This record gives sequence, structure tokens and C-alpha cells, in this order.
Amino acid sequence: MGKKLIVGNWKMHLTMQEASLYLHKLMKMISSHRDVETVVAPTILTLQSLSLQVNRRLIKLAAQNCYWRDYGNYTGEVPAAHLRGLVDYVIVGHSERRYVFQERDRDIRLKVQAALRNHLQPILCIGETLQEKTLGETADALHDQLLSGLANVTADEFDRIVIAYEPVWAIGTGESANPADVRRAIKTIRRQIQQLFGKKASTEVRILYGGSITVEKASDYLRIDGIDGLLIGGASLDAYQFIDIIEKAHNSNREGK
Ligand code: PGA
Repeated sequence: MGKKLIVGNWKMHLTMQEASLYLHKLMKMISSHRDVETVVAPTILTLQSLSLQVNRRLIKLAAQNCYWRDYGNYTGEVPAAHLRGLVDYVIVGHSERRYVFQERDRDIRLKVQAALRNHLQPILCIGETLQEKTLGETADALHDQLLSGLANVTADEFDRIVIAYEPVWAIGTGESANPADVRRAIKTIRRQIQQLFGKKASTEVRILYGGSITVEKASDYLRIDGIDGLLIGGASLDAYQFIDIIEKAHNSNREGK
């Protein structure tokens, strides 16, 4: 069983002080498991100070977003170039970026490239809307988002990409996708990656599931064939719950051996 990747997306929660206290608590309580990689994605404002506080052997940092140009007159934006050295990962194309902030496929593609150019690992989020699910268009939606998000990515660069399957209707709603459907979606994603980057890339790429994961549900998802980890929103805001999920990832790896 491969190493599990557990990512906590704090979204627009936790002030500087709260984030620092959380990280302190997490570093004190977390057990270092060689089979689990733990990442948290705090708000952009807190990244600088948390990057000085964090023990990177235990926890890595991710940005929740970035801008794709490296510099220039783009008021309010933070480029991937400025995140270099502060974080290991950057979340790109999260559904809240796509649907609340109207990010288009082109923006997402450029952000993936900016992250790669700046030595960050993109966590590319893809997933169908409720309407696409209802119309039976999940596979098409995943196909289109992968194709456009990964256009211009070379096979070498692809090694650094993580894919997060996040059905839009499952995010922050309390309604998580059925594990059998997640398994099917992951298979679809790997098939598509195989067509784009070959067999080896399709088996090696790390694919996460995200959408209303709780401590109680985590094990069911970690057991899904082909899953490499979880992207967690709400449940990651409580350090104790987040640690419970990390422990479940460790246990699921031991059970799978
Ligand atoms: P949720 O968020 O766990 O609160 O549904 C997941 C995400 O936004 O990645």
C-alpha cells in the first residue's frame, strides 16, 4: 500500500493566532507515520508565519490558490512565484474557485503551469456538478476538466501532480459521494491519465477524494481501491478530528498490507 496523503483545507477560517495555536497542537499530538503524509492549507495571510513554525518533517503546507503570472500589476493577487519556498503544494481549481469566483478552465490550466514552473506540487481539483451527475455526465465532466487542466503539462512534470476528485455537490454539504461511485470515478480518472501520459503515470498518480469527509466516514473512503488519500474541509478545522483521520489513514494502510 502506498503512502496516504491527507490534506486539510482550512478555507477562510482560523485567524493568525488560531492557526498558530492549531499548528502547535497538531505538531504536539501527531505521531510521525512513514506511511502518511500530512498537509494543511491555511489562508494566504498566515502562510509566512506558519512556514517558520512548522516542522516540515511532520506537516507540510499548501496554498489554497495562486495567481499564474509571476509578477505585474494584478491588484490583490498572490503569485505562485511568491509561494515558492513557503509551501510544498498549491490547491488549483477547487470548486469554490470555479463556481464562486468564476475561474475558467484557462485560468486553472495556467495556474497548474505556474505552480510547476515555481517548483510547487499542484493539487488539481476536478468533479462533476449535481446537474452533470443527474444527467449521467460525470465521466465527461472529469474528462473535460482533466484534459483542459493538464494541457501543456509534460510527462516529467506530471509526476508532481496530485488529482483530487471532489464532486461539487458533496463539498461542504454533509452529503458525501457513495464509495462505489468514488471508486468508479477514480477508475475513469486513471483511464484518462493513461491516455494522456501512459500506463505508468496512470498507476502512479496520486488521487484523493474530497467532499464532506468526517472522522466516522474516513475509513470507508480510505479503503476504496485506487485511492491515495483525502482532501478534508470542515473536519480538518478541529485538530482532534484531523488527527483521528490521519490515524485512520495509517490504520487503513496496515490493514491493507
Ligand atoms: P468539506 O470540504 O470536507 O468541508 O466538504 C472539502 C473541500 O472543500 O475540499
